[in-house]
Amino acid sequence: MADYDYDVLFIGAGPGGYVGAIRAAQAGLKTACVEGRETLGGTCLNVGCIPSKALLHGSELFEEAAHGVLAKYGIKTGKVELDLATMQAEKAASVKGLTGGIEYLFKKNKVDWIKGYATFKDSSTVEVAGKTYTARDIVIATGSSVTPLPGVEVDNDKGVIVDSTGALALDRVPDHLVVIGGGVIGLELGSVWRRLGAKVTVVEFLDQLLPGMDGDIRKEAGKIFKKQGMELRLSTKVTGVTVKGKQATLTVEPSAGGAAETIEADCVLVAIGRRPNTAGLGLENIGLEVNARGQIETDHDFATKVDGIWAIGDVIPGPMLAHKAEDEGIAVAENIAGLTGIVNHAVIPGVVYTMPEFAGVGLTEEAAKDAGLEIKVGKFPMMANSRAKTNGEPDGFVKVIADAKTDKVLGAWMVASVAGTMVAQVAQAMEFGATSEDIAYTCHAHPTHSEAVKEAAMAVQGKPIHI
Ligand code: FAD
Ligand code: NAI
Repeated sequence: MADYDYDVLFIGAGPGGYVGAIRAAQAGLKTACVEGRETLGGTCLNVGCIPSKALLHGSELFEEAAHGVLAKYGIKTGKVELDLATMQAEKAASVKGLTGGIEYLFKKNKVDWIKGYATFKDSSTVEVAGKTYTARDIVIATGSSVTPLPGVEVDNDKGVIVDSTGALALDRVPDHLVVIGGGVIGLELGSVWRRLGAKVTVVEFLDQLLPGMDGDIRKEAGKIFKKQGMELRLSTKVTGVTVKGKQATLTVEPSAGGAAETIEADCVLVAIGRRPNTAGLGLENIGLEVNARGQIETDHDFATKVDGIWAIGDVIPGPMLAHKAEDEGIAVAENIAGLTGIVNHAVIPGVVYTMPEFAGVGLTEEAAKDAGLEIKVGKFPMMANSRAKTNGEPDGFVKVIADAKTDKVLGAWMVASVAGTMVAQVAQAMEFGATSEDIAYTCHAHPTHSEAVKEAAMAVQGKPIHI
């Protein structure tokens, strides 16, 4: 057998690569992880999940203090002022703590961090910063980057046209932020800057926000963000942006074609999706091709068509989510170690961390019907949930979708202040093959937001108590 430097080498230290590398090392494999960034943790920890949640949390506290929510409970704050530099510093501290934590975990588990960007020389050799490293198995976990919008040039340093990375680092609150794309990034980061005082306009190509989510959720999102003061320009496309000094002029027109008009803004966020990172990897040197969407295709075990080469996370098909990448990292490591690693792609929750949160798992009502399934749907409004009502969080609902014949839960969708936490119980129930009756007869603590999940399941049976 050939002599390799490593049993397994991961390219990329995002949630896919770093988690996979740790699990591979735990399984007794000699493991390395190549990462070109200054810090570990990938998009998620450095410029994604973590910094966005830090700003969402900080901006929510500011809004509560500045706009009377605290006053309603008799908490007098005096004049509330924003110190954006401190909020940004707090964000940076969270990121530093967590990325440093991964470095500690690598040392603890004896994973070697090879610093630099990897290029394949052949299917068991990569070159990084002028040196070559060999491994019996190599996992591509290179993640994704912002999809550019032709004719709209992002310059994060200038801060007028920015992508998500620039929008996380603004040193001022824009007067008017125009978000191109009413998806997850647009709504999360649009919410941050609206709460901190910006006027926010969202320009979305489709007729609803949040593509991929259940239709009822998408409709509710439109109502809620409008109520919060965002201007929504649905079924509208941006055809160009010009910048003069610190001012941008966007030209927009109806998606279906029609008269053009202009919108003035001092900040434009481009958030129209992300695309897989494969450029510069040298895939041609190992005979690996990408599909029409630029993704690397794998089988159920995350093996590519090339022997010994595997791929996980944002670079392969499926939702671009950190928890999906992490689970695939664990599964691929276990498969390489000769164990059985499986990810159930039918049960991957998705959450939009606005206030309220929008979350779902499994099939949407539309997808279930398209698949020809006969379904029963139960809904329960948060307005009728005692805890949500008491906390002054009446917006939203829970919707449980079950198979009409077997009662097996096919999906659940929810809008609630803590929907991201509530959705986990349905994911677990679905993993155990639960019926809506199973959820309806599970004792839920009172008073909790999660009781709305139980009541929605009871509504599938036609027997909710509180509506
Ligand atoms: P990545 O995290 O992108 O990591 C890949 C790493 O590979 C990068 O660090 C890159 O530098 C490195 N790399 C690339 N090429 C090479 C090479 N040739 N050699 C060496 N290293 C290389 N998901 C959620 O689930 N929840 C959230 O709340 C959430 N919020 C987000 C907010 C924002 C603003 C963004 C942009 C994304 C968010 N995501 C969220 C998505 C999440 O960040 C990604 O799904 C996740 O990071 C994908 O993990 P990954 O390991 O596949 O890739
Ligand atoms: P997205 O795919 O969620 O949304 C992009 C939106 O832009 C879509 O609604 C699309 O219709 C619209 N769009 C596309 N072209 C357009 C155009 N020319 N003009 C106007 N609108 C246009 O992508 P987004 O928000 O950039 O996020 C990228 C990825 O990052 C997502 O896949 C998501 O999974 C991940 N992410 C996850 C988060 C979470 O889990 N909470 C948070 C942030 C990002």
